Amino acid sequence: MQLVSRSNALAQRDLLGIEGLSPDRVSAILDLSESYIALNRNAQKKSDVLSGRTLILLFFETSTRTRTSFELAGKRLGADVINISVASSAIKKGETLIDTAMTLNAMHPDLLVVRHPQSGAVDLLAQKVNCAVLNAGDGRHEHPTQALLDALTIRRAKGRLHRLSIAICGDIAHSRVARSNIMLLGKMENRIRLIAPPTLMPAQIGEFGVEVFDDMEKGLKDVDVVMMLRLQKERMDGGFIPSEREYYHRYGLDAEKLAHAKPDAIVMHPGPMNRGVEIDGTLADDINRSVIQDQVEMGVAVRMAAMDLLARNLVDSRKATA
Ligand code: NCD
Repeated sequence: MQLVSRSNALAQRDLLGIEGLSPDRVSAILDLSESYIALNRNAQKKSDVLSGRTLILLFFETSTRTRTSFELAGKRLGADVINISVASSAIKKGETLIDTAMTLNAMHPDLLVVRHPQSGAVDLLAQKVNCAVLNAGDGRHEHPTQALLDALTIRRAKGRLHRLSIAICGDIAHSRVARSNIMLLGKMENRIRLIAPPTLMPAQIGEFGVEVFDDMEKGLKDVDVVMMLRLQKERMDGGFIPSEREYYHRYGLDAEKLAHAKPDAIVMHPGPMNRGVEIDGTLADDINRSVIQDQVEMGVAVRMAAMDLLARNLVDSRKATA
């Protein structure tokens, strides 16, 4: 395994998106994640790289996988982890995002993980605090650690992360997962196909250098990877699909549609999954095709690697100003 240099593998203070990451940095994060996969499979899972550090998790939207895996990642690296529940915080009393950020900042956290329903909110918050900020999803904008964990899952399943044909299918218009993945997988020189009904395909998507389809059979032809997305009804203000039944019929992934992909194509989904809406439940559970549980495992390792690398920069910048 390639070793990551101690100081500059992620020479930036925050991880706000995939947009600013070079292919070398992506590879460096994935390489370090490999060592954390190994650690997480041990009975003894503790490291001390974040010992003495404080990690605050601030989620303004619901989350199961992302929040739990950031919390677990922080604890396995030895950090003190604080979980702020927005429902029982002063945010419910009308405090602004910036005031909340400034208040937390005054307590000297080292790492702040934020999820927010508005695109751009996490970038704004990062400008107001001194600690490292990790974006755990902002509106329809970016979800960088999801794209990194997806990349790690693909790299391990396919043995490489370049020159693959990858289909991203479903509610692309509302998906930060799709946006971060299009950027990451594009940087690593893969062929990306987007498959969605026209109502769920963002305008001007062609500018991203992707191929666009509104038909699953044509779009899935000979692909190596099929990434399904949830219908994100919480971001829809109106009727984007005729009915869930009709949507499943045309765009839901089942064995019949998957037969158009390569025989060894893998099936992915970031979760939470709606069985019988965007994916057939039996296929999602088929461990010969589906890597959905691997994605969850990779999520913990990638978040450990990302926080480890950002914390190294905190040390460096403090030394530099000492
Ligand atoms: C995704 C998200 O929150 O953007 N979920 C996740 O982080 N695993 C996708 C989704 O909510 O559909």
